[in-house]
Amino acid sequence: MPKIKVINTETNETIDLKAGYGANLRKAALYNNAEVYKGLSKFLNCHGHGMCGKCVVEIEPMENVNPRTIFENLHKLKPHQKLGCRVKVYGDITVKTAIVD
Ligand code: FES
Repeated sequence: MPKIKVINTETNETIDLKAGYGANLRKAALYNNAEVYKGLSKFLNCHGHGMCGKCVVEIEPMENVNPRTIFENLHKLKPHQKLGCRVKVYGDITVKTAIVD
């Protein structure tokens, strides 16, 4: 069962959680009250459909999540960034959240 350390860059809050193999990062974080979004994006987002680009996260190591998706390419994310709603977790990771408004 992968361990996930979620670091909120807006509040500096850190939450450790566990998720099932292949779990969706956004759903696992929100289920454990770990915030993915920054500011008002908490309310103004696409609810995990990969369209708004508000759930950008930075993940270490990238080897423990799924490869880049077409949605992440469309949003032109940096190599170390992914959309939280498009991430499937396959191993222990550290995630920085609340990257964009
Ligand atoms: S929640 Fe909108 S792109 Fe992830």
